[in-house]
Amino acid sequence: MVLPENPSRSLLEELLEGAGPDEELFRSARGKLLEEMGGEVYLRGIIEISNRCRKNCFYCGLRRDNRSVARYTMEPREIISALQEGYSLGLRSFLLQSGEMLGERHMEMVAGVLEWCSDRIPDARMVLSLGELPEEAFDRLRIAGGHRYLLRMETSSRDLYAACHPRDGLHSYGERLKALEYLRDTGWQTGTGVLIGLPGQSERDLAGDLLFMRDFDIDMVGMGPYIENGSTPFWKLRDRLRSGEERTLLTLRMTALARMLLPGVNIAATTALQTISDRGLERGLRAGANVVMPNLTPEKYRRNYNLYQGKTLVGDTLEEILETLKARCAGIGREVKLHHPGDPPRYRSRMMEMGDAIER
Ligand code: 5AD
Ligand code: SF4
Repeated sequence: MVLPENPSRSLLEELLEGAGPDEELFRSARGKLLEEMGGEVYLRGIIEISNRCRKNCFYCGLRRDNRSVARYTMEPREIISALQEGYSLGLRSFLLQSGEMLGERHMEMVAGVLEWCSDRIPDARMVLSLGELPEEAFDRLRIAGGHRYLLRMETSSRDLYAACHPRDGLHSYGERLKALEYLRDTGWQTGTGVLIGLPGQSERDLAGDLLFMRDFDIDMVGMGPYIENGSTPFWKLRDRLRSGEERTLLTLRMTALARMLLPGVNIAATTALQTISDRGLERGLRAGANVVMPNLTPEKYRRNYNLYQGKTLVGDTLEEILETLKARCAGIGREVKLHHPGDPPRYRSRMMEMGDAIER
């Protein structure tokens, strides 16, 4: 399938509705990936450093008002020990993730961990996903050693954004967009993404999301299916959702189209995709994704990082998890690339355009 240079929103909408044979779409996306960056699979070790959050998104289990979650924040030594384990097994990129917290203690803790990384594992790329922070905090974390930042737009539709978030002054579409622009323009490798299959979300909304990501010129994409959670306000809308398989297919079509519109970026086969579909990992990679994020959070904490239901809590060691991952990738003819930071070509060209140094 050949996608026109500048596809219209209506064409994308039709493709998301399943107008073309899916296998053909996925094959084209795969072809694009191979041509642009090879078929290697990059890994990011995720460490869910805290499940505290000041926000109250209607879809998310970590929302402030959810009293049924045992809140935790990992100690720096626990984070460092997870990093060391991942590093010793060949991981060279780590994602520190938490709910949104603005407190000085949290910032200082994260900055401290990043400084440790700059000093002890300087060849590792540190990715942060800590929500929408003040510009000074973004700067501070970059100086401390952060390389990449993931801030999902969640949806590029203002109306849907408003329907998914409380109107309490903390959840503003405009502010989120501003934060994302700031990240992009200050040298961060910048990632964004959306939730797929939210109640009330149309294929037209998703087509708009694809064009938004292309026009915004991001370096990485993290997007996955919405999965219901019994402790959130959106639980009451569960009868209106598309089936799990429909959300999976939509996610795969979004992945393939994102790959075709943004050939040189990193795109993850997300945990949510792997949760909603048994072979989500293989299916995501075959639709054009090239990044997988094994979870390094200690098990006692991981059970409390419940954004949605059904997240698998495998008791395997990291070594076993990596072996399984390698075998599953090999099963679809793809090789896991260890000892490699996995920077996307688009970031390099973007930095050159910005006239900046690539290496810091
Ligand atoms: N289903 C899937 N993903 C979710 N997230 C939050 N809640 C859910 C859910 N119910 C995602 C959001 C957020 C990321 C941390 O987790 O996109 O950015
Ligand atoms: Fe907090 Fe992020 Fe969940 Fe919203 S989606 S409640 S900001 S963790």
